[in-house]
Amino acid sequence: MSKVVVLDHPLIKHKLTFIRDKNTGSKEFRELVKEVSMLMAYEVTRDLSLDEIEIETPLTKTKAQVISGKKLGLIPILRAGLGMVDGMLNLLPAAKVGHIGLYRDPDTLKPVEYYCKLPHDVKERDLIVLDPMLATGGSAVAAIEFLKKRNPNSIKLVCLIAAPEGIEAVEKAHPNIDIYVGSIDERLNEDAYIVPGLGDAGDRLFGTK
Ligand code: PRP
Ligand code: URA
Repeated sequence: MSKVVVLDHPLIKHKLTFIRDKNTGSKEFRELVKEVSMLMAYEVTRDLSLDEIEIETPLTKTKAQVISGKKLGLIPILRAGLGMVDGMLNLLPAAKVGHIGLYRDPDTLKPVEYYCKLPHDVKERDLIVLDPMLATGGSAVAAIEFLKKRNPNSIKLVCLIAAPEGIEAVEKAHPNIDIYVGSIDERLNEDAYIVPGLGDAGDRLFGTK
């Protein structure tokens, strides 16, 4: 069964408030999304395995722990997932980045794939799928389905804001995927936007509306 983790740290809650605010412009919106993504990276990587090495402090030799050579892959769903990449890379600089282009058809609300470029060794990697919004779940379900066919080690999904409907859709389609979110909002509206949400994440990130 999927694990659904709400990352409700006060810093994340605080920053999400200003991300949601319609008066926050693109520059600040981008910065805040980056900061929240960095904070989320901290929790999402809690289960990374450690190796023990020997080092010398100025006082003595000692054993200490370092992250084992685990291979991570960050997979932003274009466009809005791009906003989360830099924050994650700040904490996970060795991760490779793959891209999946999906947009939600405004009439059918179904995801349409238009681009994909993944690390060549995706089979050996633990993948973290990034998308600020989990609304109907259509995009995330399709992206995960697509990635599963490439047999990665594991897949996690990280979103800033989710609707209950989106979480349910991912859990149903991919019961073995852990989902990390900053907030589970009330509902979807008639246009499948998350309420209260933050509006259109791609447009707010890139100033396209
Ligand atoms: C947004 C968002 C998700 C998707 C969520 O992307 O970034 O990918 O909608 O909706 P869903 O859960 O109902 O699929 P959008 O299709 O607007 O494309 P964009 O990122 O290019 O703006
Ligand atoms: N995509 C967005 O960008 N925002 C929503 O609320 C739903 C889907």
